[in-house]
Amino acid sequence: MPQPSSLSSPWTAQMITADHPSAPILRTSFQLEPGHGEVTAAVLRITALGIVEARFNGVPASADVLTPGWTSYEQRLRFAAWDVIDLIEPTTTIVLAVGNGWYRGRLGWLGLEGVYGPDKAAAAELVLAYSDGHRQTIITDGTWESAPSAILADDLYDGETIDARLLLPQNAHLAEDNNFGPVRVVEFDPSILEPYVGPPVRRQEELAPAVVGRTASGELLLDFGQNLVGWLRIQVTGESGEELVVHHAEVLENGDLALRPLRSAKAADRFVFSGGDDDFEPTFTYHGFRYARLQGWPGTDEEAIDGIRAVVVGSELERIGHFACSDPDLVKLHENVVWGMRGNFLDLPTDCPQRDERMGYLGDLAAFAPTAAFLYDIDAFLRDWLLDLNVEQRIQGGQVPLTVPNTLKYEPSMFQAPPEGVEIKPAPMAMWQDGAVWIPWALWEQYGDVRALEQQRESIASYFDIIEGAIEENGTLTAGYQLGDWLDPAAPPEDPRNARADREVVATACMYKTADLAARISRVLGDDEEAARRRAVAERIRSGFLDTYVGSDGRIRSDAPTVYAVAIAFGLVTGDLAQAAGDRLAELIADGGYVIATGFIGTPFVLHALSGTGHVETAYRLITQKQCPSWLYQVSMGATTVWERWDALLPDGRVNPGEMTSFNHYAFGSVGDWMHRVIAGISPLEPGYRRVLFAPQPGTGLTSASADIRTPYGVSGISWSLEDSRLRVQLEVAQGTEGLLRLPGAPERVLGPGKHEFEDAHVG
Ligand code: BGC
Repeated sequence: MPQPSSLSSPWTAQMITADHPSAPILRTSFQLEPGHGEVTAAVLRITALGIVEARFNGVPASADVLTPGWTSYEQRLRFAAWDVIDLIEPTTTIVLAVGNGWYRGRLGWLGLEGVYGPDKAAAAELVLAYSDGHRQTIITDGTWESAPSAILADDLYDGETIDARLLLPQNAHLAEDNNFGPVRVVEFDPSILEPYVGPPVRRQEELAPAVVGRTASGELLLDFGQNLVGWLRIQVTGESGEELVVHHAEVLENGDLALRPLRSAKAADRFVFSGGDDDFEPTFTYHGFRYARLQGWPGTDEEAIDGIRAVVVGSELERIGHFACSDPDLVKLHENVVWGMRGNFLDLPTDCPQRDERMGYLGDLAAFAPTAAFLYDIDAFLRDWLLDLNVEQRIQGGQVPLTVPNTLKYEPSMFQAPPEGVEIKPAPMAMWQDGAVWIPWALWEQYGDVRALEQQRESIASYFDIIEGAIEENGTLTAGYQLGDWLDPAAPPEDPRNARADREVVATACMYKTADLAARISRVLGDDEEAARRRAVAERIRSGFLDTYVGSDGRIRSDAPTVYAVAIAFGLVTGDLAQAAGDRLAELIADGGYVIATGFIGTPFVLHALSGTGHVETAYRLITQKQCPSWLYQVSMGATTVWERWDALLPDGRVNPGEMTSFNHYAFGSVGDWMHRVIAGISPLEPGYRRVLFAPQPGTGLTSASADIRTPYGVSGISWSLEDSRLRVQLEVAQGTEGLLRLPGAPERVLGPGKHEFEDAHVG
């Protein structure tokens, strides 16, 4: 059968809409053309300014939802291509329903709405191939008809209103013609259309609720047992015209939903009953929640448990990496990391899924990318999103935006114009802009596929130019706005930038890592001259860092854990200086009582810096700490995802009063990388695991750990167990690759493909 792409032709479909306040229904019918034999292929190419769903004679045309996702719509709009051969009948009615989505809905916390354009609209083209080679094409154009739908309101943040007494998209193919009016053709430039590079968004699984009680005013409270992202599907029978209102929240406070962390996002769906059996599923919105509050539930508690499901929604990614160990709390932490990723890899990598934000911050992903790339195959997912980074950088002269797609450019209050005649040179923002280099590198390291680096060549080059222009004479970075070690637990709730670590030191360190990676990238891409030039810049930064920030006693300016963590992990200090830095870091952690003292920038590196300088036990004390702030504090407070703040829930059970208090942020989940590489002990020694390093570092309290990963060559994995200080290691090395086993206190061993077992390896 021809594949969808082979049925593609130049785009002729028009973008159509209808002027209804609801999500409009757009409809046409067609008949098969006689005399050409069987239909052998049928492909629908479809896109929208907004979100579109298609039904053929009432049957969904695809399992995809939230199509076509969020891209930098000014220059890049994706279309999906769905195989619809099974849905073609002699007479077929196509119904499209169009929601606001990212295109026309609210975006961000500053009140932006409809920044991309005034109209929500859809365009689709159906091509049928017949057995005699004939083609029949149906396109959206001015001949289609439209009607208002039962979806009276829809917004990603605020929720959806469905009145089941009105025209539901699933029934619209049967509705009388006299309910329908004309459509309006919307001007649009088909040259911005591109196919998806990454996967679609789909329903992933369903969770059943438990009833946890009623609020003071008698509303039903449901608990799905897991903080998740998606929506509720509700089967219910109620009095015609009566309304059920569902609010969603991640945590409870004082026996009710804690809605304040959602800020202005209403996260409320409203369902009006038809009087018969209704089946509500609000697919033009999504919520981040564990709990739901039902106002106006017409049934019993048991009927709620039977008729309501949480539908988990996210990008269709393949799970490739796994981890386990003998400590159930660490296993739970790892599970929370995975759930945090599932909820925030929804078409694009977002900071959080619940409040009025949900944006593609590069800084958060720069921290989390190595962990994410191990857990799921995110190569195509991120290459798709990185194309938007390229678009946004071109729009702003090579500068890397804070978020992709970049809506902040529409928000003038975010930027202060320089005084007349003053030119402000752009400068790199540590971590957030460095993501432009760190993220493609994480893909290369994990998958060994050079496409991400090739695709980002120009983006990296223009960012590197900005770095070169911003370095001070002495090799440091002092210019530019820095978010710094964001959300250091010592920073007050209302001032997350106010970290212990000196912002300049951190910024210079991050700039070094970026220059170092950029040089390596040039080498991978075969440009040795550029590699040498970038290496020289990196070395200049390194000398500047050492001369300016490192004292003769080895102390680094501000003497905070994060400055030592990054100096060690990025290779700014080496040899004795690295050892001294590691010793000081361990001392600071011990003096602090083995609780977390790092924010977004220090956290991904602090455990690596400790274990890399011989302080494995300190690292284990930190990761197994249960006092606040720590990873397992969150677990002990019942977390099922990773929180934005170390103390998003305060020890007394209250929600942190800070205005950014998400319970589903993946940045601190960057600890997953250390669990994989150091606890279980597997990492790529060469990109794509063509050579794989097995280097577990067992720590007190753990008796076993394991991890495996489906590499491009096959599965490689490790499993170890410890009994009376005797270590037993089982390994699997994928075909065509080589393993290197490095155990504490033992000589290194090179291993060929296949299974290996070492029975009596001694530790310590
Ligand atoms: C987001 C963060 C983000 C930060 C940067 C916050 O509101 O949730 O994760 O990186 O802003 O400004």
